[in-house]
Parts: sequence; C-alpha cells; structure tokens
Amino acid sequence: MATPGAVRSASENEAWWKSAVVYQIYPRSFADSDNDGIGDLPGIVDRLDYLQELGIDVIWLSPVYRSPQQDNGYDVSDYQDVDPLFGTLEDLDRLIAAVHVRGMRLIMDLVVNHTSDQHPWFLASRASREAPTSDWYFWRDARPGTVPGEPGSEPNNWGASFGGSAWMWVPERGQYYLHLFDPSQPDLNWDNPDTREAIFTMMNWWLDRGIDGFRMDVINFISKDPEMPDAPLNRDGYGDGMAYFSYGPQIHAYLAEMKRRVFDPRPDTYLTVGEMPGVTPEQAREFTHREHGQLAMVFQYEHVFLDADGDKWTQRRMNINDLRDTLAKWQTALGDSGWNSLYWNNHDQPRVVSRYGNDTTYWRESATALATVLHLHRGTPYVYQGEEIGMTNAPFAALDDFRDIESLDYYAKAVCTHHEDPADVLDILRRRSRDNSRTPMQWSAVPGAGFTTGSPWIGVNPNHNWLNVAAQRGTPGSIFEYYRALIALRHRLPVVVDGNFVAVHTGRDQIYAFRRHLGDTTLTVHANLSDLPVSFDRDDLTARDLVLTNYTLSRSGPGRLEPWEVRVHVR
Ligand code: NOJ
Repeated sequence: MATPGAVRSASENEAWWKSAVVYQIYPRSFADSDNDGIGDLPGIVDRLDYLQELGIDVIWLSPVYRSPQQDNGYDVSDYQDVDPLFGTLEDLDRLIAAVHVRGMRLIMDLVVNHTSDQHPWFLASRASREAPTSDWYFWRDARPGTVPGEPGSEPNNWGASFGGSAWMWVPERGQYYLHLFDPSQPDLNWDNPDTREAIFTMMNWWLDRGIDGFRMDVINFISKDPEMPDAPLNRDGYGDGMAYFSYGPQIHAYLAEMKRRVFDPRPDTYLTVGEMPGVTPEQAREFTHREHGQLAMVFQYEHVFLDADGDKWTQRRMNINDLRDTLAKWQTALGDSGWNSLYWNNHDQPRVVSRYGNDTTYWRESATALATVLHLHRGTPYVYQGEEIGMTNAPFAALDDFRDIESLDYYAKAVCTHHEDPADVLDILRRRSRDNSRTPMQWSAVPGAGFTTGSPWIGVNPNHNWLNVAAQRGTPGSIFEYYRALIALRHRLPVVVDGNFVAVHTGRDQIYAFRRHLGDTTLTVHANLSDLPVSFDRDDLTARDLVLTNYTLSRSGPGRLEPWEVRVHVR
C-alpha cells in the first residue's frame, strides 16, 4: 500500500484515519467521461488532481457494483464486479492505483444488509426452499388465520423505509420475505453462518485488491430480533420496527466476527465507518471504542434530523440551540474513548447550505461557517462532492424532475393513497428529497456544467452558470479555497486531530463556540450561525492568534461577529 502524503502516520498500524479528511464521490453524478449522461470511473480518474489540490486524504466511493440501479446501486446483484454503467473492474483497479500514487486512499461502499432481488443468491432462494441459499433471507409464513398474500396477512406490521409494508409475498415459496427498504432490496439473514461467511470472503477479496476500507450501509440493521413482533404505528399506518432491528441482539457479535475474520489478520489498518440510523451516543461509543470497539467510526443522524418533525417528510425550522446542543453532546459523549465521524452532507441529505445555512444573502459566509465548526470538531470530517464549492438544493419544478426511488414512492403514497394535495407534496419533496444532493457536480459554467456533454441522467442545477469549480479554484475568498485552508489546518495542527473538546458558553444563542485543548495549545472557535450580527462578552482573544476567518474585511471589533462570521484562534 502507498504511504499517504498528508495523513500523519508513523506506522501502518496507527489509526491513520484520525487525521484524514474523506471526500465522498457519488459516481453517477461526479464526472462523465463517455458522455452518456452518467458519471463513471474514468471520469473520476480524470479529476484526481482536483481532489489532491483540495487536500483530501481518502475517497469514499458510493456503490459501483453490478446492480439493476433501482436505488442507484444500493441494490447490488454482484458484489465482485463493476456495473457497465460505471466501467469495468480494470477501470476500478486503475482508479485504486491512481489514488494510491497520489498518496490518497480509497474506501468502497459495502451494502450487505440487503442485496438486489436480482442477486443470484436471492433468485435461488425465492425459487426453492431446497436451494443452498434458501435461508439467506428472512422468509416467514403469513399471519395465522389470514389468507396468505392478501393485505393484512403479512407476518408483522412493519413498514419499509421507502413506503408500504416491509414484507413481499412470493407465491412460488408460499412465503413472505423481509425488505426494510424497497421490495427490490431483500434483507440478508445474518443469523445464518453461511451468509456471513460469503460476506466476509467477499470483503477479503476487495481488501486483497488494494482498497483501504469500507463505508458500511445501514450496518446496524443486520441483526433482527428473531421474534419480529408488531411495532407501534407510524404516521403512515405501518409499524416502526426500529426497536427490533436497529440494535439487534447479535449486532456486536456479528461486527466482532467481521473484525476477526476480515480486518484483524491483516497487518494494515483500515478505515471502517458504519452507517447507523438511530444509534445513540452511548452505543456509538461502544462501537468505536478505542480498546474494544469493532469499527473506526459510525455515521449518526441526530444533527441532520433537527429540521424534521417526527419523520423525514415533515419540515420544521431548525432551532440553533438544538443544533449546538446536539453537536456538543456527541463530541462530549464519544470523548476520548470513541471517535466521531463529522458530516453535513451525503447522497441522502439535502444540501446543508440550503437547510441550515442561507443559500442566498449569506451563501458564501454560511457555507464556510458551517464547514468551520464541523471540521474543527474532534473526529474525521467528510466532504460530499460539491460541498466544497457550496452547491445548493435544486429548483425542481415538477415530479418529472425527480429520479430518487424514495421520493417517487413517497409521492405516489401521499397523493394516490392518502389523497394529499400534490402541490404540498411537491413542496416537501423540493426541500427534503435526496435528489437535491444528486444533481451533477458543477465543474464549469458551460451547458452540462462540465459534467457531461450528453443528456444528464438528472437535471443540472441552473445555478452552475455562476456556482462552479472553475469560478472558485484559485480564487481568493472562494468557498473552495476556504475548504483548502480548513483541511490544511487539520493537517498542520495536531490540536485539530487530537485536542479534547470543551463547549464554551457566550450567553448568545446564535453563537456556537468551543475550545480544543492539546498540551499547551488551545484552539478556539467562535461562529455566528445566524443572519444577524451579534455582540458578546470579549474573550481574551487577540488578532495575533487568529488563524482562520471567513470575513477578510470584517468591520467587527473583537466582541462582535457579522452574520455567519467565524473566527478561529490558536494559542
Ligand atoms: C442508506 C444509503 O445511504 C441509501 O442511499 C440507501 O437508499 C439505503 N441505505 C438502502 O441501501
């Protein structure tokens, strides 16, 4: 394995990922080399110099495996091949080599809570109870006393994440299978040791190919309560089964087995990050514990749910106190023994500058302020493609503009089944749809945004005419250059990586302030997370100690911050 340049690592066995910055690529929307409208692996290779200039250490590649693409690759039909949409296995080998040559690393998405319903394991399993993979999925009989296959005869009342029942009837088997997401994504039965064995073998095959770790899709869902009881009802009339599968009885055992079988026997250290909806800070600390944890870090959801009211399709105003308290709570709870992942955006979240920032009047200021507080927390920061230039939500005009299976399912259920007003449903999709983050990367102002010269699979945001890489790269004061400075700060100052975290109370709601301490060094962040200027009791901070700010010509005195102004002091 190549020794990374920027990552401080004395030995391969150190937790090198603690000083790393990760960049997530959603391949379909990043760079399209053959101009068929869909991004691909050679397109990524062409853009590696850009990522190196940004200063990132690791690329997380969203799924490029063979897939029917019902959920844009999160429905895998062959874990050991590349979908022709994105290129070939040889293209991926070339990408891995090109990443390593530049001193960077690459982790793959691992989608093993479920497969595609077109995976050979599932095709065989659904065809016969005698098949070797018969028991690799969750098959259950109809509820006793009901007519199998009729509504209401599902084994329990759980709803699926993408709407409807979590159970699908298969006449050939005379049974239902469980799918916590779309019916095309049947859940794998991890309780069967053969299933686990096949997954671990596949993971080892990838590590042997030279990748540097995995981002593990909804990995906390792999152990289900074997009783699978009915659950309290959600707004949509289905049971919320989270309590029975988000922290199941075997979750620690299965992840520990994975660690033993896949990672422990190897001399190198890998980045493992588990996506864990619903995880609590206490659970996260255990999963990532320095001594007995099973993963390097997890993705929690609490801070990206603060503008939702109960479920993801109801919007409320995010309260700044909640945001501050939530961020600080996770910092403190994981403390010295666990490790946080730090993120605002990914392919499932609307763009943060449009959600928690101000994407009009204070677009640049709020994008850089939010970046600052995130990157200067304790943990490993993740940048989602386009975040580094302040990409915003998209102005979707009509239902036809959306592509995401979750959004389209929601619209169909809300409008056709629950007879909600189509205009209201479109409005909430515009704010909350995952497609907001999936519009093509904005490289330049030309038609197609430099992403493609063909017809893009999802519309390019019209604001690419001014919001694009070409306009910002090398431009003093741009969001891109600010991200570079922020990433460089992490690489330069050990206090950013290893310093402990202490929240600071300024007595002003809209200010988020904290300190990081390491030895004799103290780093202090003051961030005004609002559209209004604010004064506060002056700290003993001096201009001499200022290492970073997003206002080059601040009119403010020492005890005052302009809208979305941040100041970082080190002494
Ligand atoms: C989480 C992924 O991030 C999301 O995109 C996907 O739809 C679900 N898991 C199901 O795999």
